[in-house]
Amino acid sequence: NPAWRGLIEEYREWLPVAQNTPVVTLLEGGTPLVPAPVLSDRTGCEVYLKVEGANPTGSFKDRGMTVAISKAKEEGAEAVICASTGNTSASAAAYAARAQMRCAVLVPTGKIALGKMAQAFMHGVRLLEVDGNFDDCLKLAEKLTQDYPISLVNSINPHRIEGQKTASFEIVDTLGDAPDLHFLPVGNAGNITAYWKGYREYADAGNSTKKPRMFGFQAAGAAPLVSGKVVENPDTIATAIRIGNPASWTQAIDARDDSGGRIDSVTDEEILAAYHMLAATDAVFVEPASAASVAGLLKVMNAGELDRGQRIVCTVTGNGLKDPDTALSNVPKATPIRVDAAEAAEKLGLA
Ligand code: F0G
Repeated sequence: NPAWRGLIEEYREWLPVAQNTPVVTLLEGGTPLVPAPVLSDRTGCEVYLKVEGANPTGSFKDRGMTVAISKAKEEGAEAVICASTGNTSASAAAYAARAQMRCAVLVPTGKIALGKMAQAFMHGVRLLEVDGNFDDCLKLAEKLTQDYPISLVNSINPHRIEGQKTASFEIVDTLGDAPDLHFLPVGNAGNITAYWKGYREYADAGNSTKKPRMFGFQAAGAAPLVSGKVVENPDTIATAIRIGNPASWTQAIDARDDSGGRIDSVTDEEILAAYHMLAATDAVFVEPASAASVAGLLKVMNAGELDRGQRIVCTVTGNGLKDPDTALSNVPKATPIRVDAAEAAEKLGLA
């Protein structure tokens, strides 16, 4: 869409920006809502994928970051900081560079996908590794922003939620109404909070006739919202959602209860199966955490709890290119076959 102006200009009246707010944008948002024919066939529903990997830095974080960094700039901040499992750091790095602000990120040592690390460095952040998990990083980031003049751009910053809610607006604008069900992965729980806020605001304004039931899925090894207890040592192959104490805990539970939805978990095996299926059939390559939404849909279907004929949106939150290691270590065909010119036809089974 060549006319797309970035989500602040597209949805200005819904966002906390004024005429004098400096708009820091990379023309994020306006992401494709891709029909998923194979998933639709399998479920007997009308399934769409909201492909957030099509954002400028390859994840949904750009929606929140354009607003958070624009507001930080407006308030005169010269530096920002965040804790991250990878995508927030890549996004903060890019928007801070664009705004000519300094950026520091705190990440758990050894638990950040390769592509995200590369992005953060390329955009010029100070990357600090912490021997701990995301929850430890977030605590430290909050403390630093209390003690020093530096702005926090994690999703506990309300401007992040405001930006991220625009994904719901886009879905309603595209479909003409809200879907019946909305599936998404849940980590720190900012995104489910944001989507639910967006759907509510649009319905209240008469832009949709209904609101979807919100179905959030955590990784089984990092599922505090399912067990109701903080997970001290979260663990999952989906490093983006390796979080044991979500900051937006109560908002996520409210979204579930107010919408008549569900928060459940999917195993790493279920995540990887959905990850492969999405790439190989409906042909959308997402990162492992993103596949938790689709794994959740399949889990509900397999339990016999999915009525046919519903309109369903699954948010796939990040681009598959973010995490080449997981892709290459989990695909049986990832080892290339070496041939000389004479052997190619034979190895392909053509000769
Ligand atoms: N999917 C991806 C690809 C993510 O990077 C995240 C969160 C989520 C889902 C979960 O969203 O936290 O709003 O519930 N990533 C954060 C980060 C924590 O630091 O990049 P959530």
